[in-house]
Amino acid sequence: MKNQLFLFVSLFVLVACQPKDPIEKQIDDLLSQMTLEEKIAQMNQLSGGYYSEDLESAVRAGLGSMLNSVGEETNYYQRIAVEESRLGIPMLFARDVIHGYRTIYPIPLGQAATFDLALVEEAARLTAQESMQAGIRWTFSPMVDISRDPRWGRVAEGYGEDTYLASMMGAATVRGYQGFDSIVQLAACVKHFVGYGVSEGGRDYNTTWIPEIQLRETYLPPFKAALDAGSLSIMCSFNDINGVPSSANKHLNVNILRHEWQYNGVLVSDYASSQNMIAHGNCHDLREATLLSINAQMDMDMENHAYSNHLKELIEEGLVKEQQVDVCVRNILRMKYRLGLFDNPYCAVENPVYYSSESLSAAQRAAEESAVLLKNNGILPLSSTPTILVCGPLAHSQHDQNGTWCFDKVDSATVTPLMAFRELERAGKIRLIEQMGKHWSREVSQSNITQLTRLARQADVVLFFGGEESILSGEARCRAHLNLPGDQSAQLRALKAIGKPVVLTVMAGRPLCIGEDINMVDAVLYAFHGGTMQGPALANLIMGVVSPSGRLPITFPQAVGQIPMYYNKKNSGRPTSNPVLYDDIPVGIEQFSIGADSYWLEYGDKPLYPFGYGLTYTTFEYGPVVLSDTIIDKSAIIASCEITNTGTMDAVAVPQLYIRDLVGSITRPIRELKGFQRVTIPAGESRTVSFEIEEADLAYWHLAQGVDLGADGDYTFSAEPGDFHIWIAPNSAEGQAARFALKK
Ligand code: NOJ
Repeated sequence: MKNQLFLFVSLFVLVACQPKDPIEKQIDDLLSQMTLEEKIAQMNQLSGGYYSEDLESAVRAGLGSMLNSVGEETNYYQRIAVEESRLGIPMLFARDVIHGYRTIYPIPLGQAATFDLALVEEAARLTAQESMQAGIRWTFSPMVDISRDPRWGRVAEGYGEDTYLASMMGAATVRGYQGFDSIVQLAACVKHFVGYGVSEGGRDYNTTWIPEIQLRETYLPPFKAALDAGSLSIMCSFNDINGVPSSANKHLNVNILRHEWQYNGVLVSDYASSQNMIAHGNCHDLREATLLSINAQMDMDMENHAYSNHLKELIEEGLVKEQQVDVCVRNILRMKYRLGLFDNPYCAVENPVYYSSESLSAAQRAAEESAVLLKNNGILPLSSTPTILVCGPLAHSQHDQNGTWCFDKVDSATVTPLMAFRELERAGKIRLIEQMGKHWSREVSQSNITQLTRLARQADVVLFFGGEESILSGEARCRAHLNLPGDQSAQLRALKAIGKPVVLTVMAGRPLCIGEDINMVDAVLYAFHGGTMQGPALANLIMGVVSPSGRLPITFPQAVGQIPMYYNKKNSGRPTSNPVLYDDIPVGIEQFSIGADSYWLEYGDKPLYPFGYGLTYTTFEYGPVVLSDTIIDKSAIIASCEITNTGTMDAVAVPQLYIRDLVGSITRPIRELKGFQRVTIPAGESRTVSFEIEEADLAYWHLAQGVDLGADGDYTFSAEPGDFHIWIAPNSAEGQAARFALKK
């Protein structure tokens, strides 16, 4: 007992004697000088983008942050904050810089298709450089909402369906934005906390119901990974989750975020998300929304006008304590100190450098690596000096190929596929025929089909650039049908009818159900919206300067009726191996049995393309998985596999490590991604790839021993002993499993 007391006293003395972090000292000092009104003002973010006297007064009174102001305007308001507000606390300017500021990189879903963490980090670093020159020090990115529903328009903004891939991508993006100096460049804001991608029916802002175990296993880890990478902030989501809107969700925002994860960065509302709680129906008015939000420790109010209108009165009435406000203000000031705003509040507006050669080449590489080759009957890459017809609604749409969320791009700086092929013609590498008849992916007139087929007859090959206009994906752009819009399928049918080889390139913000279109063409590149340099990137891929290396970060369903569809599903009690399909059921025989398996009559249980899928211009042969040991106990084992490039072109293989826990106290998915690599393998050569697996990689959330299913909250994160399958495979549906066991 005496010993314990001694230990306790020593520990106390040790902690008390630690020198206080200088930033915390500065915060203490500043906070002690602030009035309640000034504290509340710091907790507000208002939308700028225009000059107004009202905004100026808010800034003079100590406004904490503005979104949507850029360049000169940020310096204009910052000067008022620094020179005319009582304490001169600088403001923090925020913006949705989602996949590039001026130079636009592929949409995040496309970035995920690169499986290239270094490149994604580099794109974020270059984005930070461009944004900072315009005064933007806080971006509302990365979005790490897992979504398994391509109807949801915001699937474009995330990293796809997989928790591991999204965690890695989100963390890489945070590292890129924030850098590694003690002064952060561009503060990241991981969003939307949490479950937003699960909206019922793929309809934006809709209700979500997520059991705690699934929340922890699938939806929370990418947030934790981004916070572990240092993200200075996190944003609430719009949805209600299990009946409680995120902005007021104490379980998420307090129990998990603040207590379990010990996070002291800034939790910002989404745009008016507290106000939205009135429509959600969990509070009567903005005053109550304010109370619920502050009690869930939402630090900053983005355009809700809730804290500014009601927080003071709630404190005066004793319903909220001033200490609650202090905690929030501390977090906000900490972020400002970490950004060095007190020393450098202004941006250098003169002579900013945008579209540097470094940025453009990273954007081109990202666009090249994000395109996924789905089909190739051998026509690609094009050889000799072909006569090419370039056509389709996305062939020359400088606006649309940039995709959703790019406020600051300049369309005229965007290089389209048509522009890139014109360049190749000038260089004498191809002969070019153009058809510019259609500009909108949704046009249905079919008026150009006669001209299209006439021109196609003069060409050796038709390059059809189709897909979706940018306005069809992103926030609030949800679709009930996932076909190619307009008359694009009719155009492909007409081209098929004249027998010309057709290469279809799809530029879209989501997976589309294009099985029938694919059957009509010779090759398909799925390129997402690829940004500023997508034109040259696609030309390089089509001409074989670069071999495709993108892999699908999300399952492509055959039909909307299969959604949600994802690779790491549970097996069900009745998986199918040999489904009897709709057309195989004889008509007129009443006794015919189709068995009792789990599948869709029209499609069986298979997607159009599985997660991780992607072809290249060579062929890879994966050898068996070799394990350094078949038992994991205290130490890790190494799984290796030899991959041989059996074709004639150098190319990048993307080996993916999957495991399956064969028996769990909570049923386990049929595969889980645990690692991936990109490996360049010259034609005819082999490379051995290795992955380390240890007990921690096998852990999952389940009910603690002795707790009945349904008991509340008693979860544990650990691995259960037993047998596992392991694959090193080219995608989530292929490969030969090896087996190992976990012993404890
Ligand atoms: C609403 C969106 O949900 C969020 O992602 C975005 O950052 C904010 N608006 C600010 O524009």
